[in-house]
Formats: sequence, structure tokens, C-alpha cells
Amino acid sequence: MNRRKLLTTAVIALAMSAAPALAADIVIKFSHVVAPGTPKGKGADKFKELAEKYTAGKVAVEVYPNSQLYKDKEELEALQLGAVQMLAPSLAKFGPLGAKEFEAFDLPFIFPDKEALYRVTKGEVGKAMLNKLADKGITGLAYWDNGFKIMSANTPLKTPDDFLGLKMRIQSSKVLEAQMKALGAVPQVMAFSEVYQALQTGVVDGTENPPSNMFTQKMHEVQKHATISNHGYLGYAVIVNKAFWDGLPADVRGQLEKAMAEATDYANSIAQEENDKALQAMKDSGKTEFHELTDAERKAWVDALKPVYEEAAGRVGADTIQAMQKAAAGN
Ligand code: LMR
Repeated sequence: MNRRKLLTTAVIALAMSAAPALAADIVIKFSHVVAPGTPKGKGADKFKELAEKYTAGKVAVEVYPNSQLYKDKEELEALQLGAVQMLAPSLAKFGPLGAKEFEAFDLPFIFPDKEALYRVTKGEVGKAMLNKLADKGITGLAYWDNGFKIMSANTPLKTPDDFLGLKMRIQSSKVLEAQMKALGAVPQVMAFSEVYQALQTGVVDGTENPPSNMFTQKMHEVQKHATISNHGYLGYAVIVNKAFWDGLPADVRGQLEKAMAEATDYANSIAQEENDKALQAMKDSGKTEFHELTDAERKAWVDALKPVYEEAAGRVGADTIQAMQKAAAGN
């Protein structure tokens, strides 16, 4: 081997042996329970893309969708234990952590539209709620949008009477439990990953979800009726293990904050469209019959669900509910 060739070979060998050192120093496992093609799934993938770009590969983000790693309750425990670093659970799932205030987001008809919601999530009330997670070992980074929920079952759900005796799957929120009870239904807490099968086999009769979740889990294939009631909101808080986050080099944390801010704008900008597309696709499939509430039907739902507020005040706190209502109204 001549000298030049030897040198080239040595340089290549050196580069190859150095390759592992070029791999990411920091790995963020981002676990979630929904399909990649949902607003949250797409937001997580966008965060991965931007985080890896802004940290020039120092950070690798591994996204695990569809409850691949953990189901609802387990993922929160895994985050606190440091087995995963990042999650975006729905706001309805923070109660079991001891952060009951988040259940105020589940109150029926509390947000007339997305603008009212944003006045909460982008304002002081939303910020204060995220800060409350610190003593649970969690840092709240952002709110991500999904959408307003529709109710589904195998029988039409036009008036509150139609819910009588139906077994309805809910997320682990006491406000949602009270909501279903107020409608005369029997609420059943169940992990998201189990809902399709439970609907298919009749373990539960119905559920509530934004269209994007209903469609990507194929729930429309096992639910004959759905009512576009928009009676409640489902969105997320993106959270990280606090010790992990605080332990990051300040420059890396800054780059990740920038990636999170942009991923948040992206996720929130696509949420409505993703839900509109999912609803249209389900309508086109012809498997589920969709019903829009008349004004009189809507009023009957609103009246039937009023007691949920009193019930929630005792647990979530009347102050929390009032602060949210005030912020939502822009006062
Ligand atoms: C549900 O369990 O219905 C939702 O929280 C799933 C999700 O993360 O959107």
C-alpha cells in the first residue's frame, strides 16, 4: 500500500471509529397513545424534526405512537420514573396525578369556541395550571389542540333520554364521570388503546372523542350513530420529566424550547383541519349516521349537564372554574 493510500485508509478508519461519538448525546423518548396521523401524532413528529435540527443532532427524539410503549395511566408513571422523558396526555388525564384543576377543561360547554379556549391556554390561567405540575416532578411546556368531542353509540343520541343506561367509555376524569351520569349513562374508565375492541365486542356501548381520534382508531366502523354535539373539549399538555429538563445544558434547553414553540404552532394550526377531514371521511364511509343537534336538543343537553358544574366545584374548586370561565369570556 502506498503512503497516500495508507493515509486515506487511516482517515476513513478514524472517521468510522469516531462515528458513534457523533450519535446523539441526549435521547428524548416521546410516548403517546394516538395514531401518527392525528394532530398530536403530527405535532410529536414535527417536534422531533425541529429538535434534532436545532440541536444539530445532539438530541435524538424517539416518538412512540399508539400506546406502543405505555397505555394512558402507565405513561404518566413512566414519565415520573424517568423511563420516558416527554408525553402529551389529554387534559382529562391529570386528575389521577393529583392535578385535579385540569379537569375543569372537561366541563360540558365551557368553551363556546376555540378562541375562548385559547384565551385560557395562552393566558395566565393556562400558565398557572402548567406551573402546578412542578411539585409532581413534571414541567409543563405547552398546550396542544385537538378538538371538540362528538358522542357515539349504536343507537341515536339526540336527547339526554337517549343515554339512559348506556355504558359509555370515558377518560380518567371525574368531571367526565359526572357528565355521563348526568345524562343517565354508566361511565366506564378505560385506556384509549382498548376502546376500539371494547366497542366492537359490546363491553361498552359508546364513547366520546374528537373526530380525528374516532376516525384513526376506526371507531366509526363499530358505532352506528354519532352526534356532532361539540359538548366538550379534548386537548393536551405537553409535559417533560422535570429533573431531566432542568438537567439539560442551558443552550440545548433553549433550542428545544424553540422547537417546542414552533411544533406547538404547527400542531395547533392543523388540528381543526385534521378533525374536519376525519369527520368528512367518516361521513363518506357511510358506516356511521351523523346527527347535528337542533337548538332545542342542544338546550336539553345544556340543561341536563348543568349539575356537573356544582359537582365539579366541590373537587376541582369553584375558584378554578370561575377563573377559567372568566378567562374564556375574555374578562
Ligand atoms: C382518549 O383517551 O380518548 C384521548 O385522551 C386520547 C388522546 O390522547 O387523544
